[in-house]
Amino acid sequence: MPNARVVVDPRYVVGPINRRLFGSFIEHMGRAVYTGIYEPDHPTADDEGFRQDVIELVRELGVSAIRYPGGNFVSGFHWRDSIGPKDERPRRLSLAWRATETNEVGLHEFSSWVEKVGGELMYAINLGTADTREALEVVEYANAPRRSTLAEERIANGRTEPFGITMWYLGNEMDGPWQLGHAPADDYGKKASRTAKALRQLDPRVELVASGSSHPTMPTFPEWERVVLEHTYEDVDYISCHGYYEEKNGDLGSFLAAPVKMDRYLDAVIATADHVKALKRSDKTLNISFDEWNVWYLGDNLRRFPRQADRFYRTDEIEGDDWPEAPRLAEDVYSVADAVVVGGLLISLLRHADRVSSAAMSMLVNVIAPITTEPGGPAWRQSTYFPFALTSKLANGVALDVRVESEDYETAEHGRVPLVDAVATADADAGRAAVFLVNRSLTEEVTVTVDLAALGRVELLDARMIADEDVYARNTRDEPDRVQLKANASAAIEDGVLTVTLPPVSWTAVALG
Ligand code: AHR
Repeated sequence: MPNARVVVDPRYVVGPINRRLFGSFIEHMGRAVYTGIYEPDHPTADDEGFRQDVIELVRELGVSAIRYPGGNFVSGFHWRDSIGPKDERPRRLSLAWRATETNEVGLHEFSSWVEKVGGELMYAINLGTADTREALEVVEYANAPRRSTLAEERIANGRTEPFGITMWYLGNEMDGPWQLGHAPADDYGKKASRTAKALRQLDPRVELVASGSSHPTMPTFPEWERVVLEHTYEDVDYISCHGYYEEKNGDLGSFLAAPVKMDRYLDAVIATADHVKALKRSDKTLNISFDEWNVWYLGDNLRRFPRQADRFYRTDEIEGDDWPEAPRLAEDVYSVADAVVVGGLLISLLRHADRVSSAAMSMLVNVIAPITTEPGGPAWRQSTYFPFALTSKLANGVALDVRVESEDYETAEHGRVPLVDAVATADADAGRAAVFLVNRSLTEEVTVTVDLAALGRVELLDARMIADEDVYARNTRDEPDRVQLKANASAAIEDGVLTVTLPPVSWTAVALG
């Protein structure tokens, strides 16, 4: 049986953990909104039509901030369509997802829902088919106090106090040829810069995200980042990253190492941002908003369907209504292995906590999501729900730069990678710490000794894991609790050393206090 060793020392800090690291994303795509969070006829619906069973699950998940309303959707979306009396709102064709958007849920409704789940609303601006003027108008409508006509309109629409939205995204995946308004980096960089300057004149409290590459495999990566940041470096606060991971051709070993891919991607974006910092002789360090990340089984559809919108459809839906309302899109059903990868991706984000100050698991409900619903029926937790919820609960304070000694293994996609990965967090004020570990071996348990001596006297509070004989076990409507967290009963502390055995293909979180 392989062994591994981890050293945790609170003197070696990566950086403070921003609560926004545990953000999520709701796009007007598929059934994320309609029959996901909003279903007025559902037995649990509240007086605004929101499903209370979903609200409870989102609260329990520990989501801190939620990006809205897209995604690709936002590049063809005009925010004005989503305000005012519901029965007067236009029905629009959503070109990104080849669906009909009823606009029943818009800025006011979504903001109210975000308050119900106890999160922060982060808003994406259309820089695809819209321009700086429209960006200014939505920020003024949302954030201006009385006096302006737009603020008065917001008040007339039922919201007296400004929404006070801080985090604004300057477009979405503008490097992607599928994106409405896709432009070369130079054009987008100039547009993002002048829009950012204008928004800051309107509201100096805004935090702005420039659109980075939609994936590190894009041919324009990382030149896109360099050019965009050369235009926007002093105007924005973050550059965005997006990354989706999937098991390809039955190669589970490579898939489990997806966090290595995320690490390399982050390191490349950080290097590019710091290169521009040096070029500009700037004192400012730019951080990252990893505003879309998850496991997503996208590959098959990308190969089968050339049109962007069709990639997400089942063939039977294409043959029926070509512009359906809330079609079933990208409703991936996640396995134990997927949950282990999600746990590993969270380790990678925490390891970069000094530079990744905001992140959003994409998405939250139904579409590539940890929560699934049936219209008129139940809502349940997918396997990926558990590592997110537990990491969000335990990872407080600062992320620590741990040393991991582990055997490695060969992967087709990433070369040799360590079998065991880990990160630790420490919250001095609360007197708590946590260690998160992954074993990527397909066949063997690994016993890990974690040297905690530098933390002083600590007790083991809890150790839970995602692991199963069947790594492809999933939660479904018929078996919603098939995959759950289990106790990792092997964990024990003696003389400042934690010993824990990690089953093959597993993720474990150890709480210390
Ligand atoms: O999350 C679904 C889609 O994936 C988003 O709309 C887009 O930004 C990304 O390509």
